[in-house]
Amino acid sequence: MDNFIIHGSKSLRGEVKISGSKNAALPILAATMLTREKCEIRNVPDLMDIKSTFELLNYMGKKCFFGFNVFSVEEASALKQHAPYDMVRKMRASVLVAGPLLARFKKVRFSLPGGCSIGVRPIDIHLEAFQKLGAQVSYERGDVIVSAAKLKSARLKFRFPSVGATENLMMCAALIKGTTVLENCAREPEIADLAGALRCMGAVVEGEGAATIKICGRDALKGLKYSVMPDRIETGTFMLIAAAAGGKLKLLNTDLRLVEAVTRGLKKAGVKISTACPPEAQPTPVREFGRRAAPKLRWGGITVEANGCRPAPIGVATKPYPGFPTDLQAPWMAFMARARGESLIHEAIFENRFIHAAELMRMGADITVTDRKAVVRGVKRLLGAPVMASDIRAGAALIVAAAAARGITVIKRVYHIDRGYEKIEDKLRLAGMRIERVKA
Ligand code: UD1
Repeated sequence: MDNFIIHGSKSLRGEVKISGSKNAALPILAATMLTREKCEIRNVPDLMDIKSTFELLNYMGKKCFFGFNVFSVEEASALKQHAPYDMVRKMRASVLVAGPLLARFKKVRFSLPGGCSIGVRPIDIHLEAFQKLGAQVSYERGDVIVSAAKLKSARLKFRFPSVGATENLMMCAALIKGTTVLENCAREPEIADLAGALRCMGAVVEGEGAATIKICGRDALKGLKYSVMPDRIETGTFMLIAAAAGGKLKLLNTDLRLVEAVTRGLKKAGVKISTACPPEAQPTPVREFGRRAAPKLRWGGITVEANGCRPAPIGVATKPYPGFPTDLQAPWMAFMARARGESLIHEAIFENRFIHAAELMRMGADITVTDRKAVVRGVKRLLGAPVMASDIRAGAALIVAAAAARGITVIKRVYHIDRGYEKIEDKLRLAGMRIERVKA
């Protein structure tokens, strides 16, 4: 197991290239199960979860190639319709193969993913929605079996705008004849990216980014050439690391439109945020290819400028997009640990997402957690200490704190951070951070 050793209180300068989005890539890779044809997905980050998806797709009967951030998928043999426990327990997003496999074979069996360190994370919303499309659900030895004699298009409303359920149902509906209408959908940009991919495969999708999505499915879908959107959570994490450390950092291959909630908070806290490139100098869009005209997206880049002084205290409450993302709650708390006063952080999405608070307190933070609320009383300084990452974003929070702290922080269980951040130490080192990866 690797550790990170970080020497804090060093301002950051220069440029960081943001990777493709993990949370957009995972459903798009699952969507390749909808077609027999070849798919090529670009700008895919080289991360543990992508490697787990590679193994899962190969196990199911696809033949995958992954290198230089390009992921190719071909159909090598008849597909299995069973995602076993050993695969699903490594990565919850494995449940995203359920929608495509159910649509293609009218039957899928997959292991119930179980809870994780941030909450129970049931999949009842996915299963209820499959039932509305005519499927039956049964359980056997820890697996869920979803099957249907015939799937039918329908109009259904999610009880909560679950990201995974919205994605699973969009993929399933893409192979069901007729128009399926999904209400109270998640509105995250990754949903829009999946909609773009499904359109390239031949499905008609309307309304992504709004609460109601309409999908007109096809008998068969075509292969896909697509480039994944930038990772908005990696973007927000780097914004917070730069804000905590101080200095001036340019983030490339990303855009302010993806991180509006965190940008508002950072500006109120006293950090200067601007578009890195004037419109006329904006880089070439990354989504330049595809079978249909891809939207002309321009990633303008972001500049973060901070003096490293204590920020103003700004409370946040996590909400589904466009609200403040739960995946940036932990890094935000780490940033607020040095604020000039008290801030209230409310975690409204996951029931157990404050494990990082205890680790931040080991670095001198003053935090009281009650149920889903945390009061953070800013301290003058954080001090480096040995700490432990408990999940991807809790690990990212420890990097934010280490960047601002005096002295040396040793972060253990870096494998959690590696699940969500591509080459993070290389990117930070290039920006001037003193960070090393060492074998424990
Ligand atoms: C996705 C993201 C994750 C992010 C989360 C919320 C991926 C791979 N992961 O996870 O990084 O933190 O969105 O923005 O994209 N819920 C139920 N029943 C269900 C489904 C969800 O009760 O059937 C609850 C969950 O327990 C949780 C909340 O709804 O409390 C949000 O979950 P959901 O939006 O489904 O998150 P994921 O898709 O798992």
